[in-house]
Order: sequence, then C-alpha cells, then structure tokens
Amino acid sequence: MAEAAKILPDMEKEDLRILMAIEIGMKRSEYVTVNNIKFYSRYPIEETLFRLKKVHKWNLIVRDSSKSEVGYTLNSIGYDVLGLHTLVEKKIISQLGPLIGKGKESDVYGCMDDSKNIFALKIYRIGRTSFKNIKKLRSFQGDRKHISWLYVNRLAAKKEFEALGEIYKLKLDTPKPIDFNRHIIVMSYLRGKELAYSQNIKKPSKVFNKIIKQIKEIYQNANMIHGDLGEFNIVLDHKDNILIIDWLQWVPSDHPNAKSLLERDIENVCNFFKKKYHVESDPYEIIQSFYNK
Ligand SMILES: Nc1ncnc2c1ncn2[C@@H]1O[C@H](COP(=O)(O)OP(=O)(O)OP(=O)(O)O)[C@@H](O)[C@H]1O
Ligand SMILES: [Mg+2]
Repeated sequence: MAEAAKILPDMEKEDLRILMAIEIGMKRSEYVTVNNIKFYSRYPIEETLFRLKKVHKWNLIVRDSSKSEVGYTLNSIGYDVLGLHTLVEKKIISQLGPLIGKGKESDVYGCMDDSKNIFALKIYRIGRTSFKNIKKLRSFQGDRKHISWLYVNRLAAKKEFEALGEIYKLKLDTPKPIDFNRHIIVMSYLRGKELAYSQNIKKPSKVFNKIIKQIKEIYQNANMIHGDLGEFNIVLDHKDNILIIDWLQWVPSDHPNAKSLLERDIENVCNFFKKKYHVESDPYEIIQSFYNK
C-alpha cells in the first residue's frame, strides 16, 4: 500500500483510466488484450500503448506475451492505486499513515482525512499466501470455476463493511464503518494494542464482562456470531476501552455451525482472561445465558 500511496501523486488521470480499463477487462479474463484495453479506455491506440508502457514501468501491471495477443493484468499495487485513488477523490482520506497490523489476509494502516481525523484502513490480501485460506469465502464462489483474487478481495471488503454497518447500529465497541472501495475498508480507529499484547489491565474482570456483554447483545439483537473471537481480534487502549474487530467470517445465529462457533468464541475469551488475568468464569453458564433472552 505504501508503494501505491507513493506513486499516486505522480499519476495522471489517463494512467488511472488505463488501469480501470484493465480492471473492467479482468471481469472476463485474467489477462486483458491491448485491443480490449483500447476498447474499454476509449483511447486511440497510440495513447493506449503510451499509458500501458508508463504504468508497466511503475510496476502496476503484469504483461503476458506468451499468447498470440499480448495481454496485461493488474497486480496488487495497481489495484491498491485504484482503491486508494477513489477514496482520496471522495475525500474520505487524504493521507496514508503507518502499518498498524498485518494479518494472514489483510494489511491495516492508519490514515487521515483533511481534518486530521484518524481512521484505520484495512486492505484485503486474500490469496497472498495461498488460495487455501479462501474457505471463509466459499459462499461467494457459487458455481464459478475461476474466481479472481480481485473479485474475492472486493467481496471480502464489502462483506466486512456491511457486517460492521449492521453491528454498529447497536452502538457498541465495534468499528464505525466509514466507507469502502474495492478491497479497502475505512473504519474508526482505536489507538491501542491487541488484547493478547496487553500488559496490565487495571480491571480485568470489568473488561471481561464488557466483552461478554457486548457479544451477547450482538448475538441477541443482531443475530450475529463473530466466529473468530479471541485476544487477537480485540483491541484495547490504555484506558481499558475496547474495540471488537475483524468481522469478515461472522455467521448468523441460525447457521448450521452457529452453536459450536459461539462456544468457541466464548471459550477463547474465558480462557484468555483466566490464564493471563485469573478471571474465573463458567463458559457453559455464559452460553446458556445467551439463549435466554
Ligand atoms: N479499527 C481498528 N483500530 C485499531 N487497530 C486495528 C483496527 N482494525 C485492525 N486493527 C489492527 O490490525 C490488525 C489486523 O486487523 P484484522 O484483525 O481486522 O485483520 P486480520 O487479522 O488480517 O484478519 P484475518 O483474521 O481475517 O486474517 C489487528 O489485529 C489490529 O492490531
Ligand atoms: Mg485479526
């Protein structure tokens, strides 16, 4: 993402339009022929070739000359440029900050808008390591044989953004969704650390109860289960404020695996607080209380 943010100010709108033409073509095939890029951009061939050369030099696209017609595809930096550009144009953000988190499937950065408000910016990178991790997104795949990384990451961002919107209605400690574009989500930011790396929580049982209470409210009022809850998906600041993050894999409470996922979520939180902070709890009792409204 840092690469994309660095290149973006030097780009002309014609360069961006060439990237967008490739993006459109990628809906049909991984590599897009020069002829199709020309067609989608509506530029004459000379302009098309000139811009292709330029963005290729910037390392935003990959060339395939093994077929009879030369083709191009966006690489992840090229896709980052498009997402970032749109968010900047919409005045959602104006500056990218430091990397604050790196997961298996995403990178998270700090970012700022014109009024110096700070947000978290999450970029999906599913398929970066391998497509094996794609399990979470099987439901998107349907009958498609070929699913492109671009499509998967765009859908992941959309899915998490929508989930954040649903939960945010309950006004609990979950990120406020600000906007999303392509594979990027912008949301409210809590300056802190993952619970796993917390040093000394002042009142551990208070934090524990707050987390359980909120997970219960989300379950009872939004019918949603986190599905990957634990000390790595809860951010904590120095005042013991929390933020329950990372909602891509949420499942509805009538999902076939709802019960076991909910149990695992609760047990994770109980075990963490027991081990690290000696907070005693009975996960079974807690889960039962979820079912009794
Ligand atoms: N809104 C936020 N405010 C503060 N920090 C955040 C926020 N969102 C994410 N982070 C930081 O970035 C890290 C990665 O974010 P997140 O857990 O959402 O993605 P992930 O772990 O890559 O997802 P996955 O578990 O699907 O691989 C978090 O552990 C946290 O440190
Ligand atoms: Mg996470």
